[in-house]
Amino acid sequence: MRRKAYISAVAHYVPPKILTNFDLEKMVDTNDEWIRTRTGIKERHILEPGKATSDMAAEAVKNLCERRGIDPMEIELIIVATVTPDMFFPSTGNLVQEKCGAKNAWSFDVAAACSGFIYALSVGTQFIESGRHKKVVVIGSDKMSAITNYRDRNTCVLFGDAAGAVLLEPTEEEEKGILDFMLFSDGSGAEYLLMKAGGSLYPASLETVANDWHFIYQDGKSVFKFAVTKMAEVAVNILEKNNFSGKDLTLFIPHQANLRIIDATVKRLGIDYDKVMINIDKYGNTTAATIPLALSEAYEQGKLDKGDLVLFATFGGGFTWASSLLKWGLPKP
Ligand code: UT7
Repeated sequence: MRRKAYISAVAHYVPPKILTNFDLEKMVDTNDEWIRTRTGIKERHILEPGKATSDMAAEAVKNLCERRGIDPMEIELIIVATVTPDMFFPSTGNLVQEKCGAKNAWSFDVAAACSGFIYALSVGTQFIESGRHKKVVVIGSDKMSAITNYRDRNTCVLFGDAAGAVLLEPTEEEEKGILDFMLFSDGSGAEYLLMKAGGSLYPASLETVANDWHFIYQDGKSVFKFAVTKMAEVAVNILEKNNFSGKDLTLFIPHQANLRIIDATVKRLGIDYDKVMINIDKYGNTTAATIPLALSEAYEQGKLDKGDLVLFATFGGGFTWASSLLKWGLPKP
């Protein structure tokens, strides 16, 4: 029997402060109707000043350990997917390790924008499958409000702050565990979705600040076209590769960037909406956090039971896109 990784706990953290579409109407030339019909978003959560990505991640890990009934000292590895690290270095993983008292864990970050969580999950899975570790925490956490320009209506309506985390442990049971990943990159898409400055190419200067290069830039239309095609493709292909079809799925958990992109993927999969987890209306696009946040809410809402087939699919800056297929390993809460 193959040694697999399974998700033995899931948890999330969302900051309490809410920014609604009506709040945004007072900040930029936009309106609730445009935002809802073009994106599906009604509100998003914003982290308070003085707090960072690692604070949300550490809260999610504390919830995770409580749910699994373990001491953070038992964690062996922490992987954080983020595009909004607290700082360049040390890694956000290092800061989370300290904040949640996981003194025995080593830690690092993975940068793959909205595909970050699935990329990081694939890395964590390797450490379980190889037998190297027995308890690996994989986190998606982003404080998107830190890099969002609230004078730019093209982007400021889209993003929110949140963290989600899973615990990976080994299993040899047939009816549970992570079955497969499909992971892709295409660097020719870099120019369509990026934060231009603050790195080694354009270190912070008066000019980079004046040009708004420390904020997210997105050519929405170009990203949309690529996202619609690739997210559907990667979702359908991983099912086919593993001899499943849409009708075998219990739950599809897509990256929450735009309801219209989710709709297109759902059509390609040929599944009903009661098999799709959607919470973009409440949180907007929380980048690396969307999938673990949606998974955590789905589990809390009793949408998942042991042995259920679950599909994740995502698309993001880079370009990057990815999917993962798993058999859920926990009974209903
Ligand atoms: O998670 C990472 C991957 N990211 C994505 O997957 C995002 C992909 N892109 C999208 O989701 C969509 O392209 C957006 C939601 C970003 C934009 O929707 P769109 O339907 O592509 O709109 P658009 O950019 O083509 O803009 C249509 C019109 C424009 O006006 P004109 O030129 O037709 O007069 C925009 O200026 O809507 C205008 N517009 C707005 N109007 C009101 C753009 N943003 C806003 C706004 N409120 N917030």
